[in-house]
Amino acid sequence: MLLSLRSTRLFIFLTMALAVLACQHDSSEDTLLPSNPNNGGENTCDPNVVYFEQQILPILASSCAQPDCHDATDPESNVNLSNYASIMQEVTPGNPNTSDLWEVITDDDAEDRMPPVGENPLSDQQINLITQWINQGALNNSCSNSCNPSAFTFNTTIHPTLTNYCQGCHSGTNPDAGLTLINYEQIQTIAADGRLMHAINGTGGITQMPFQSNPLSDCQKQQIQSWVNAGSPNN
Ligand code: HEC
Repeated sequence: MLLSLRSTRLFIFLTMALAVLACQHDSSEDTLLPSNPNNGGENTCDPNVVYFEQQILPILASSCAQPDCHDATDPESNVNLSNYASIMQEVTPGNPNTSDLWEVITDDDAEDRMPPVGENPLSDQQINLITQWINQGALNNSCSNSCNPSAFTFNTTIHPTLTNYCQGCHSGTNPDAGLTLINYEQIQTIAADGRLMHAINGTGGITQMPFQSNPLSDCQKQQIQSWVNAGSPNN
């Protein structure tokens, strides 16, 4: 009896330890936070906290705050999702169920759900992040993951950055410019033909991406440039 109780406890302990390890394993993928291992700098990003500036704003900027939708210039239905203060008009901190923002992205009726039918839907992962952020008090918070300009491998740095900043518009059934930027091959194609750096710098006749409400930092631009210079490897 005692023994089995003990082994049950041990089992529960091991299961929990494994779950914790599993969670830590892929944290950059789970949280959409670009991570920069070996950067030597200080990382102030807590993996259990969702950050408005690094995680929520990029999602809303690329999926909702586009021209002719919910941008600051001429917001559809007067809902401007381009900055914290106006986003908070649609959010009740700590309570997703009474937050209009959460209601429209999770509505069971496809006709009422946002983004509208025909646009790129939010992924479950993005919806989970928004839900967690509201539950954690919908803070205007920010962290620094100490971007290191000389860390630029595809899987740890470039892909998470582009997932965060580009996929809202460049995925789904109707991607902007007919351009899908989800996997390595798709990204490598525009890296090799020069369009990636043109889009990031706003040169070569391509509008600067992402749009001004949510720009890449100089360090992120440099990482992408270095990766392109290295021949855009799948590393
Ligand atoms: C808010 C929506 C949005 C986001 C976010 C966005 N794009 Fe775009 N992208 C567009 C639109 C719209 C066009 C077409 C209009 C234009 O070229 O001005 C476009 C065009 C492009 C083109 C030119 C395609 C061609 O062949 O003409 C490239 C390259 C591109 N985007 C790359 C990116 C990259 C890289 C990112 C992320 C760093 C990104 N975009 C983020 C909306 C977006």
